[in-house]
Amino acid sequence: MTTLEQTLLERISRNGPMPFAAFMSTALYHPRLGYYSAGRPRSGRRGDFVTSPELDPAFAELWVNGFRQTWEGCGRPARFCVVEVGPGEGAFAAGVLASATGAFADALTYHLVERLAALQARQRRLLSPHENVSWSPSLREAPVAESGCVFANEVLDNLPVHLVERRGGRLMEVCVGAVDGGLTFVPLPPANPELARYLDRTGFDLPEGHRAEVGLAAGSFTRQTAAAIERGATFFIDYGAEADDLSRRAAGTLVSYSSSGADDRVLERAGAKDITAHVNWTAVRGAGADAGLTMLGPRPQSEVLGALGLWDLDDRLRRVHGSAAAEGKGAEAVSALSRRGALGALVDRGGLGALGVMAGVKGIAPPPFVTTR
Ligand SMILES: C[S@@+](CC[C@H](N)C(=O)[O-])C[C@H]1O[C@@H](n2cnc3c(N)ncnc32)[C@H](O)[C@@H]1O
Repeated sequence: MTTLEQTLLERISRNGPMPFAAFMSTALYHPRLGYYSAGRPRSGRRGDFVTSPELDPAFAELWVNGFRQTWEGCGRPARFCVVEVGPGEGAFAAGVLASATGAFADALTYHLVERLAALQARQRRLLSPHENVSWSPSLREAPVAESGCVFANEVLDNLPVHLVERRGGRLMEVCVGAVDGGLTFVPLPPANPELARYLDRTGFDLPEGHRAEVGLAAGSFTRQTAAAIERGATFFIDYGAEADDLSRRAAGTLVSYSSSGADDRVLERAGAKDITAHVNWTAVRGAGADAGLTMLGPRPQSEVLGALGLWDLDDRLRRVHGSAAAEGKGAEAVSALSRRGALGALVDRGGLGALGVMAGVKGIAPPPFVTTR
Protein backbone atom coordinates (compact mmCIF):
# COMPACT_ATOMS: atom_id res chain seq x y z
CA MET A 1 0.00 0.00 0.00
CA THR A 2 1.34 3.47 -0.88
CA THR A 3 1.62 6.22 1.74
CA LEU A 4 -0.97 8.18 -0.24
CA GLU A 5 -3.45 5.26 -0.14
CA GLN A 6 -3.03 5.24 3.67
CA THR A 7 -3.67 9.01 3.77
CA LEU A 8 -6.80 8.61 1.61
CA LEU A 9 -8.13 5.74 3.76
CA GLU A 10 -7.72 7.89 6.89
CA ARG A 11 -9.51 10.79 5.20
CA ILE A 12 -12.39 8.51 4.14
CA SER A 13 -12.72 7.00 7.63
CA ARG A 14 -13.01 10.55 9.05
CA ASN A 15 -15.23 12.16 6.36
CA GLY A 16 -16.89 9.30 4.46
CA PRO A 17 -16.64 8.49 0.71
CA MET A 18 -15.23 11.17 -1.59
CA PRO A 19 -16.15 12.08 -5.19
CA PHE A 20 -13.89 10.32 -7.70
CA ALA A 21 -12.74 13.79 -8.88
CA ALA A 22 -11.35 14.50 -5.38
CA PHE A 23 -9.62 11.10 -5.35
CA MET A 24 -8.11 11.66 -8.83
CA SER A 25 -6.97 15.16 -7.99
CA THR A 26 -5.24 13.89 -4.82
CA ALA A 27 -3.73 10.84 -6.57
CA LEU A 28 -2.17 13.05 -9.27
CA TYR A 29 -1.47 16.35 -7.52
CA HIS A 30 -1.24 15.81 -3.71
CA PRO A 31 1.50 18.35 -2.84
CA ARG A 32 4.07 15.72 -1.74
CA LEU A 33 2.73 12.30 -2.66
CA GLY A 34 0.81 12.89 -5.94
CA TYR A 35 1.92 11.11 -9.12
CA TYR A 36 2.93 14.39 -10.79
CA SER A 37 4.08 16.28 -7.68
CA ALA A 38 6.44 13.64 -6.28
CA GLY A 39 9.30 15.06 -8.41
CA ARG A 40 10.29 12.19 -10.73
CA PRO A 41 10.03 12.76 -14.54
CA ARG A 42 6.80 11.08 -15.69
CA SER A 43 6.90 11.64 -19.44
CA GLY A 44 9.81 10.99 -21.78
CA ARG A 45 12.17 8.10 -22.23
CA ARG A 46 12.93 7.89 -18.47
CA GLY A 47 9.23 8.13 -17.55
CA ASP A 48 6.12 5.95 -17.74
CA PHE A 49 4.88 7.22 -21.13
CA VAL A 50 6.20 9.13 -24.14
CA THR A 51 4.26 12.12 -25.47
CA SER A 52 4.57 13.61 -28.97
CA PRO A 53 6.93 16.48 -27.98
CA GLU A 54 9.20 14.03 -26.13
CA LEU A 55 9.42 11.72 -29.13
CA ASP A 56 11.14 14.10 -31.57
CA PRO A 57 11.75 17.88 -31.90
CA ALA A 58 9.89 17.64 -35.25
CA PHE A 59 6.60 17.86 -33.35
CA ALA A 60 7.45 21.35 -32.03
CA GLU A 61 9.08 22.34 -35.33
CA LEU A 62 5.84 21.53 -37.19
CA TRP A 63 3.66 23.33 -34.64
CA VAL A 64 5.79 26.47 -35.11
CA ASN A 65 4.22 26.60 -38.60
CA GLY A 66 0.77 26.53 -36.98
CA PHE A 67 1.66 29.29 -34.50
CA ARG A 68 3.16 31.36 -37.33
CA GLN A 69 -0.04 31.00 -39.38
CA THR A 70 -2.06 32.13 -36.34
CA TRP A 71 0.28 35.13 -35.89
CA GLU A 72 -0.24 36.00 -39.56
CA GLY A 73 -4.02 35.69 -39.06
CA CYS A 74 -3.70 38.22 -36.23
CA GLY A 75 -2.03 40.67 -38.69
CA ARG A 76 1.62 39.93 -37.73
CA PRO A 77 1.54 41.85 -34.41
CA ALA A 78 4.83 42.95 -32.79
CA ARG A 79 4.11 40.69 -29.77
CA PHE A 80 2.63 37.20 -29.97
CA CYS A 81 2.49 34.88 -26.98
CA VAL A 82 2.32 31.09 -26.98
CA VAL A 83 0.81 30.05 -23.65
CA GLU A 84 1.55 26.38 -22.98
CA VAL A 85 -0.45 24.71 -20.22
CA GLY A 86 0.97 21.61 -18.51
CA PRO A 87 4.32 21.69 -20.37
CA GLY A 88 5.71 18.55 -18.68
CA GLU A 89 9.49 18.42 -19.05
CA GLY A 90 9.49 21.48 -21.38
CA ALA A 91 10.53 19.69 -24.60
CA PHE A 92 7.81 21.37 -26.66
CA ALA A 93 8.71 24.88 -25.46
CA ALA A 94 12.41 24.23 -26.13
CA GLY A 95 11.60 22.98 -29.65
CA VAL A 96 9.35 25.93 -30.49
CA LEU A 97 11.84 28.52 -29.23
CA ALA A 98 14.72 26.84 -31.07
CA SER A 99 12.95 26.54 -34.43
CA ALA A 100 11.04 29.85 -34.72
CA THR A 101 12.75 32.16 -37.23
CA GLY A 102 12.57 35.65 -38.75
CA ALA A 103 9.96 38.27 -37.86
CA PHE A 104 7.84 35.61 -36.14
CA ALA A 105 10.72 34.74 -33.77
CA ASP A 106 11.17 38.45 -32.99
CA ALA A 107 7.49 38.73 -32.03
CA LEU A 108 7.34 35.45 -30.07
CA THR A 109 7.12 35.31 -26.29
CA TYR A 110 6.47 32.04 -24.44
CA HIS A 111 4.48 31.60 -21.24
CA LEU A 112 4.41 28.29 -19.37
CA VAL A 113 1.58 27.45 -16.98
CA GLU A 114 3.08 25.02 -14.48
CA ARG A 115 1.80 24.57 -10.95
CA LEU A 116 4.36 22.01 -9.77
CA ALA A 117 7.55 23.54 -8.36
CA ALA A 118 9.85 20.60 -9.24
CA LEU A 119 8.73 20.58 -12.87
CA GLN A 120 8.97 24.36 -13.14
CA ALA A 121 12.57 24.18 -11.87
CA ARG A 122 13.48 21.62 -14.56
CA GLN A 123 11.75 23.71 -17.26
CA ARG A 124 13.64 26.83 -16.09
CA ARG A 125 16.96 24.97 -16.41
CA LEU A 126 16.10 23.68 -19.90
CA LEU A 127 14.89 27.06 -21.17
CA SER A 128 17.57 29.21 -19.49
CA PRO A 129 19.17 30.19 -22.86
CA HIS A 130 15.95 32.00 -23.83
CA GLU A 131 14.97 35.45 -22.53
CA ASN A 132 11.41 35.78 -23.79
CA VAL A 133 10.02 33.11 -21.42
CA SER A 134 7.86 33.46 -18.31
CA TRP A 135 5.86 31.23 -15.96
CA SER A 136 2.74 31.25 -13.83
CA PRO A 137 1.31 28.54 -11.59
CA SER A 138 -2.22 28.65 -13.09
CA LEU A 139 -4.09 29.93 -16.13
CA ARG A 140 -6.02 32.32 -13.88
CA GLU A 141 -2.73 33.97 -12.89
CA ALA A 142 -1.34 34.10 -16.44
CA PRO A 143 -1.24 37.56 -18.07
CA VAL A 144 -3.87 37.92 -20.83
CA ALA A 145 -2.17 37.94 -24.25
CA GLU A 146 -3.44 40.52 -26.75
CA SER A 147 -2.53 38.11 -29.57
CA GLY A 148 -1.49 34.53 -29.09
CA CYS A 149 -2.17 30.81 -28.88
CA VAL A 150 -2.96 28.56 -25.96
CA PHE A 151 -1.54 25.06 -26.40
CA ALA A 152 -2.21 22.01 -24.22
CA ASN A 153 -0.92 18.57 -25.23
CA GLU A 154 -2.38 15.65 -23.25
CA VAL A 155 -3.52 17.87 -20.38
CA LEU A 156 -7.33 17.68 -20.63
CA ASP A 157 -7.28 13.91 -20.11
CA ASN A 158 -5.45 14.43 -16.80
CA LEU A 159 -8.05 16.81 -15.34
CA PRO A 160 -10.10 15.29 -12.51
CA VAL A 161 -13.44 13.73 -13.52
CA HIS A 162 -16.52 12.73 -11.54
CA LEU A 163 -17.96 9.26 -12.17
CA VAL A 164 -21.65 8.44 -12.70
CA GLU A 165 -23.60 5.26 -13.31
CA ARG A 166 -27.24 4.49 -14.29
CA ARG A 167 -28.74 2.00 -11.78
CA GLY A 168 -32.41 0.98 -11.67
CA GLY A 169 -33.14 3.94 -13.95
CA ARG A 170 -31.54 6.41 -11.50
CA LEU A 171 -28.38 8.40 -11.96
CA MET A 172 -25.86 7.56 -9.20
CA GLU A 173 -22.52 9.19 -8.45
CA VAL A 174 -19.71 6.63 -8.10
CA CYS A 175 -17.59 7.79 -5.16
CA VAL A 176 -14.48 6.34 -3.52
CA GLY A 177 -14.98 4.63 -0.16
CA ALA A 178 -13.19 2.02 1.95
CA VAL A 179 -13.74 -1.71 2.49
CA ASP A 180 -11.52 -4.26 4.28
CA GLY A 181 -8.69 -1.73 4.56
CA GLY A 182 -8.67 -0.89 0.81
CA LEU A 183 -10.25 1.68 -1.50
CA THR A 184 -13.42 0.75 -3.37
CA PHE A 185 -16.12 2.30 -5.58
CA VAL A 186 -19.38 3.22 -3.81
CA PRO A 187 -22.49 4.37 -5.75
CA LEU A 188 -24.34 7.18 -3.94
CA PRO A 189 -27.11 9.63 -4.86
CA PRO A 190 -25.36 12.55 -6.59
CA ALA A 191 -24.62 15.43 -4.22
CA ASN A 192 -23.81 17.83 -7.07
CA PRO A 193 -26.66 18.82 -9.47
CA GLU A 194 -24.03 19.82 -12.07
CA LEU A 195 -23.47 16.13 -12.88
CA ALA A 196 -26.99 15.61 -14.30
CA ARG A 197 -26.86 19.04 -15.99
CA TYR A 198 -23.59 18.10 -17.72
CA LEU A 199 -25.19 14.94 -19.17
CA ASP A 200 -28.27 16.90 -20.34
CA ARG A 201 -26.20 19.70 -21.84
CA THR A 202 -23.99 17.36 -23.86
CA GLY A 203 -26.85 15.03 -24.93
CA PHE A 204 -25.12 12.22 -23.04
CA ASP A 205 -27.77 9.49 -22.83
CA LEU A 206 -26.33 7.04 -20.27
CA PRO A 207 -27.83 3.53 -20.69
CA GLU A 208 -28.77 1.32 -17.72
CA GLY A 209 -25.70 -0.23 -16.07
CA HIS A 210 -23.23 2.05 -17.90
CA ARG A 211 -20.58 4.08 -16.10
CA ALA A 212 -19.17 7.35 -17.47
CA GLU A 213 -16.87 10.19 -16.56
CA VAL A 214 -18.15 13.74 -16.12
CA GLY A 215 -15.47 16.31 -16.94
CA LEU A 216 -16.60 19.43 -15.11
CA ALA A 217 -12.98 20.56 -14.73
CA ALA A 218 -12.39 20.28 -18.52
CA GLY A 219 -15.24 22.76 -19.04
CA SER A 220 -13.80 25.38 -16.70
CA PHE A 221 -10.30 24.75 -18.10
CA THR A 222 -11.62 25.44 -21.64
CA ARG A 223 -13.26 28.68 -20.48
CA GLN A 224 -10.01 29.78 -18.81
CA THR A 225 -8.00 29.13 -21.99
CA ALA A 226 -10.47 31.31 -23.94
CA ALA A 227 -9.99 34.11 -21.41
CA ALA A 228 -6.17 33.91 -21.67
CA ILE A 229 -6.07 35.46 -25.17
CA GLU A 230 -7.86 38.47 -26.65
CA ARG A 231 -7.47 37.06 -30.16
CA GLY A 232 -5.76 34.05 -31.66
CA ALA A 233 -6.43 30.36 -31.10
CA THR A 234 -6.46 27.59 -28.53
CA PHE A 235 -5.29 24.08 -29.40
CA PHE A 236 -6.07 20.97 -27.35
CA ILE A 237 -4.52 17.64 -28.28
CA ASP A 238 -5.85 14.55 -26.59
CA TYR A 239 -7.44 11.15 -26.78
CA GLY A 240 -11.19 11.66 -26.75
CA ALA A 241 -14.58 10.88 -28.28
CA GLU A 242 -17.98 12.50 -28.79
CA ALA A 243 -20.63 12.11 -26.05
CA ASP A 244 -22.76 9.58 -27.97
CA ASP A 245 -19.72 7.36 -28.54
CA LEU A 246 -18.73 7.64 -24.86
CA SER A 247 -22.25 6.69 -23.71
CA ARG A 248 -21.94 3.37 -25.58
CA ARG A 249 -18.86 2.33 -23.53
CA ALA A 250 -20.29 0.40 -20.58
CA ALA A 251 -17.27 0.80 -18.27
CA GLY A 252 -16.15 4.35 -19.10
CA THR A 253 -12.63 5.19 -20.26
CA LEU A 254 -10.47 5.49 -17.13
CA VAL A 255 -6.95 4.07 -17.58
CA SER A 256 -3.92 4.23 -15.31
CA TYR A 257 -0.27 4.17 -16.40
CA SER A 258 2.77 3.31 -14.32
CA SER A 259 6.22 1.81 -14.69
CA SER A 260 4.49 -1.58 -15.03
CA GLY A 261 2.27 -0.55 -17.96
CA ALA A 262 -1.40 0.37 -18.49
CA ASP A 263 -4.41 -1.08 -16.65
CA ASP A 264 -7.90 -0.08 -15.52
CA ARG A 265 -7.30 -0.59 -11.76
CA VAL A 266 -7.33 3.13 -11.08
CA LEU A 267 -7.87 2.90 -7.30
CA GLU A 268 -4.75 0.81 -6.74
CA ARG A 269 -1.35 2.28 -5.70
CA ALA A 270 -2.60 5.86 -5.53
CA GLY A 271 0.23 8.29 -6.23
CA ALA A 272 2.31 5.71 -8.10
CA LYS A 273 0.13 5.74 -11.24
CA ASP A 274 -1.08 8.26 -13.76
CA ILE A 275 -4.87 8.33 -14.23
CA THR A 276 -6.47 9.49 -17.49
CA ALA A 277 -10.00 9.74 -18.89
CA HIS A 278 -10.96 10.26 -22.55
CA VAL A 279 -11.91 13.84 -23.31
CA ASN A 280 -15.61 14.39 -24.07
CA TRP A 281 -15.19 16.52 -27.21
CA THR A 282 -18.90 17.38 -27.30
CA ALA A 283 -18.61 18.96 -23.84
CA VAL A 284 -15.35 20.79 -24.63
CA ARG A 285 -16.81 22.12 -27.90
CA GLY A 286 -19.85 23.43 -25.96
CA ALA A 287 -17.73 25.05 -23.24
CA GLY A 288 -15.49 26.72 -25.84
CA ALA A 289 -18.45 28.05 -27.84
CA ASP A 290 -20.01 29.44 -24.63
CA ALA A 291 -16.72 31.23 -23.96
CA GLY A 292 -16.73 32.91 -27.40
CA LEU A 293 -14.45 30.52 -29.33
CA THR A 294 -15.26 29.21 -32.81
CA MET A 295 -14.59 25.53 -32.25
CA LEU A 296 -13.16 23.32 -35.03
CA GLY A 297 -12.40 19.61 -34.94
CA PRO A 298 -11.24 17.40 -33.46
CA ARG A 299 -9.17 16.20 -36.39
CA PRO A 300 -6.69 13.33 -36.08
CA GLN A 301 -3.15 14.47 -35.25
CA SER A 302 -1.96 12.55 -38.34
CA GLU A 303 -3.94 14.93 -40.61
CA VAL A 304 -3.02 18.10 -38.72
CA LEU A 305 0.71 17.31 -38.74
CA GLY A 306 0.38 16.53 -42.46
CA ALA A 307 -1.14 19.99 -43.01
CA LEU A 308 1.72 21.49 -40.96
CA GLY A 309 4.32 20.04 -43.34
CA LEU A 310 5.24 16.64 -41.91
CA TRP A 311 5.52 14.96 -45.34
CA ASP A 312 7.88 17.66 -46.65
CA LEU A 313 10.07 17.15 -43.60
CA ASP A 314 9.95 13.38 -44.14
CA ASP A 315 11.02 13.88 -47.74
CA ARG A 316 13.95 16.10 -46.66
CA LEU A 317 15.08 13.46 -44.15
CA ARG A 318 14.76 10.74 -46.81
CA ARG A 319 17.14 12.72 -49.04
CA VAL A 320 19.55 13.40 -46.14
CA HIS A 321 19.56 9.68 -45.37
CA GLY A 322 20.19 8.76 -49.03
CA SER A 323 23.11 11.13 -49.54
CA ALA A 324 24.64 10.47 -46.08
CA ALA A 325 24.51 6.71 -46.75
CA ALA A 326 26.06 7.18 -50.23
CA GLU A 327 28.90 9.28 -48.74
CA GLY A 328 29.56 6.78 -45.93
CA LYS A 329 28.43 9.20 -43.19
CA GLY A 330 27.00 6.46 -41.01
CA ALA A 331 25.96 8.48 -37.95
CA GLU A 332 24.14 11.09 -40.06
CA ALA A 333 22.36 8.39 -42.05
CA VAL A 334 21.22 6.56 -38.90
CA SER A 335 20.01 9.79 -37.29
CA ALA A 336 17.92 10.72 -40.38
CA LEU A 337 16.47 7.23 -40.48
CA SER A 338 15.55 7.25 -36.80
CA ARG A 339 13.94 10.68 -37.16
CA ARG A 340 11.84 9.34 -40.04
CA GLY A 341 10.79 6.53 -37.69
CA ALA A 342 9.70 9.14 -35.12
CA LEU A 343 7.66 11.00 -37.76
CA GLY A 344 5.96 7.70 -38.60
CA ALA A 345 5.10 7.22 -34.91
CA LEU A 346 3.62 10.75 -34.68
CA VAL A 347 1.12 9.95 -37.45
CA ASP A 348 0.55 6.25 -36.67
CA ARG A 349 -3.26 5.88 -36.55
CA GLY A 350 -2.84 3.04 -34.03
CA GLY A 351 -0.98 5.34 -31.60
CA LEU A 352 -0.11 9.05 -31.40
CA GLY A 353 -1.64 9.77 -34.83
CA ALA A 354 -5.07 8.96 -33.39
CA LEU A 355 -4.87 11.83 -30.89
CA GLY A 356 -7.51 14.44 -31.67
CA VAL A 357 -6.67 18.11 -32.24
CA MET A 358 -9.43 20.56 -31.35
CA ALA A 359 -9.00 24.25 -32.20
CA GLY A 360 -10.86 27.23 -30.75
CA VAL A 361 -10.48 30.43 -32.75
CA LYS A 362 -11.07 33.91 -31.34
CA GLY A 363 -11.26 37.19 -33.28
CA ILE A 364 -9.50 35.91 -36.44
CA ALA A 365 -10.22 33.56 -39.36
CA PRO A 366 -9.17 29.94 -38.73
CA PRO A 367 -5.49 29.51 -39.67
CA PRO A 368 -5.14 27.53 -42.96
CA PHE A 369 -3.67 24.36 -41.40
CA VAL A 370 -6.79 23.91 -39.25
CA THR A 371 -9.05 23.57 -42.28
CA THR A 372 -6.79 22.22 -45.09
CA ARG A 373 -6.84 18.48 -45.73
C1 LIG B 1 0.53 13.82 -19.62
S1 LIG B 1 1.37 15.21 -19.01
C2 LIG B 1 1.72 16.02 -20.54
C3 LIG B 1 2.91 16.91 -20.44
C4 LIG B 1 3.29 17.64 -21.74
N1 LIG B 1 2.22 18.49 -22.20
C5 LIG B 1 3.74 16.68 -22.81
O1 LIG B 1 3.03 16.57 -23.81
O2 LIG B 1 4.80 16.06 -22.64
C6 LIG B 1 0.10 16.21 -18.32
C7 LIG B 1 0.59 17.44 -17.61
O3 LIG B 1 -0.52 18.32 -17.39
C8 LIG B 1 -0.32 18.98 -16.15
N2 LIG B 1 -1.61 19.55 -15.68
C9 LIG B 1 -2.72 18.91 -15.36
N3 LIG B 1 -3.68 19.77 -14.97
C10 LIG B 1 -3.17 21.00 -15.10
C11 LIG B 1 -3.68 22.31 -14.89
N4 LIG B 1 -4.92 22.54 -14.46
N5 LIG B 1 -2.86 23.36 -15.12
C12 LIG B 1 -1.60 23.15 -15.56
N6 LIG B 1 -1.08 21.93 -15.78
C13 LIG B 1 -1.84 20.86 -15.56
C14 LIG B 1 0.26 17.89 -15.28
O4 LIG B 1 0.94 18.41 -14.17
C15 LIG B 1 1.19 17.16 -16.25
O5 LIG B 1 2.48 17.70 -16.21
